[in-house]
Amino acid sequence: MTSHETYLLNRAKLADSHTLEVARADGAYGALRKVFETSMSPEDVVEEVKKSGLRGRGGAGFPTGLKWSFMPNHESDSRTRYMAVNADESEPGTCKDRVLLREDPHCLIEGCLIAAFAMRLDAVYVYVRGEYRLPYDRMQAALDEARAAGILGDNILGSGFSCEIHMHKGAGAYICGEETGLMESLEGKRGHPRPKPPFPASFGLWGQPTTVNNVESIFNVPFILDRGADWFRTLGTESSPGNFLCGISGHVERPGVYEVPLGISARAIVEDLAGGIWKGRSLKAWFPGGSSTGVLPADMLDTPMDHDSVKAAGSMFGTGAMIILDETASVVRSALVLARFYEHESCGQCSQCREGTEWLEQIVDRMLSGQGKAGDVQLLTDLSNGMTPGKTICALSDAAAIPMLAAIKHFRSEFEACIPTTAEALV
Ligand SMILES: Cc1cc2nc3c(=O)[nH]c(=O)nc-3n(C[C@H](O)[C@H](O)[C@H](O)COP(=O)(O)O)c2cc1C
Ligand code: SF4
Repeated sequence: MTSHETYLLNRAKLADSHTLEVARADGAYGALRKVFETSMSPEDVVEEVKKSGLRGRGGAGFPTGLKWSFMPNHESDSRTRYMAVNADESEPGTCKDRVLLREDPHCLIEGCLIAAFAMRLDAVYVYVRGEYRLPYDRMQAALDEARAAGILGDNILGSGFSCEIHMHKGAGAYICGEETGLMESLEGKRGHPRPKPPFPASFGLWGQPTTVNNVESIFNVPFILDRGADWFRTLGTESSPGNFLCGISGHVERPGVYEVPLGISARAIVEDLAGGIWKGRSLKAWFPGGSSTGVLPADMLDTPMDHDSVKAAGSMFGTGAMIILDETASVVRSALVLARFYEHESCGQCSQCREGTEWLEQIVDRMLSGQGKAGDVQLLTDLSNGMTPGKTICALSDAAAIPMLAAIKHFRSEFEACIPTTAEALV
């Protein structure tokens, strides 16, 4: 495999990379200083991030700079402005933000402060998955260090710019990773997603203008400001520039989190980085970007891992978290595991999602326990089609339906094999 330039995880390889001393010696806060010391205006920073083509790493791949530009003009709207950094990371298979928080929290703080300057924010909230104890503690310690060093709070680095960053712990609900569910939860309420519009930029946290970004998205920002949008575009593809963190799990020899350029083939990740399929077995199926993305068969492993290519292959890039199933795995069983997860995590506001997730789970469960009925595969298909696309308040309903539809599309015979024949049913 050809080697590629890395930047996201370079500091993480240093001992005590999470401390201010090590991070600073490695150049941390250099990009923030550059922003303050050159004549860059907040609008220039937004423009640079737009120019870089950075796409959100939280699942939807929305352009980050464009999202920032949706914040209202500060001259005509003087309300308090916030950013929420989404570190809820509860999508099954996804485990990359944890590494960034744990190993290099100062880079995330730097990214938050550059974003805060660019969007003229008053405060940033980092919403961390409750189970992430060490990442949370490291991030909190880094904030304390930064504050003591004059990098956070009032008059940051003597620039005249002030901003606070607060931490918040989640309590184990996947739905609190959905941006409006996250905001409700931060406000101390149940994590029930809000209907959109209004969008967070006009009515976000406590009704104020808010931007929600994923940890990895914000983590890219100091590198873009330090090295420039043109450098960023030398990595990845035209429509998906930069590197991404691929968390790969399941039936591979070396599961883990790897930094790779967008557009790298899925095969290179599986075979070269993750050491191939474990136990000398062969590949059966793979999820390209977390459990909400449609499963793909082995013969599509040459698909490039970027937003457009994975979409063209009939799935989604999602969080770039690959889940690998070997030849012995049951796709129907994996569909049950996921259906159970989504049924458990549905907040229950929308009937398609509340009832649909439960039915999907019950039908696959009965199929696997030998109680399947003729027509069940079609019933799963019809039910899933009733849950997607865009029929509910948030995308959890789609997240449950899409992998089911993909599993049936590519592995229909496996589902059909679960239905007893008439003769078997009579025994
Ligand atoms: C059910 C559900 C769960 C989600 N969980 C997460 C999550 O854990 N982390 C995350 O960054 N985005 C998550 N998202 C996506 C967020 O709603 C939002 O799009 C994202 O945080 C925006 O960040 P980005 O533009 O930087 O990607 C989830 C979405 C849905 C529908
Ligand atoms: S789609 Fe599901 S999780 Fe999302 S708001 Fe509706 S019921 Fe809740």
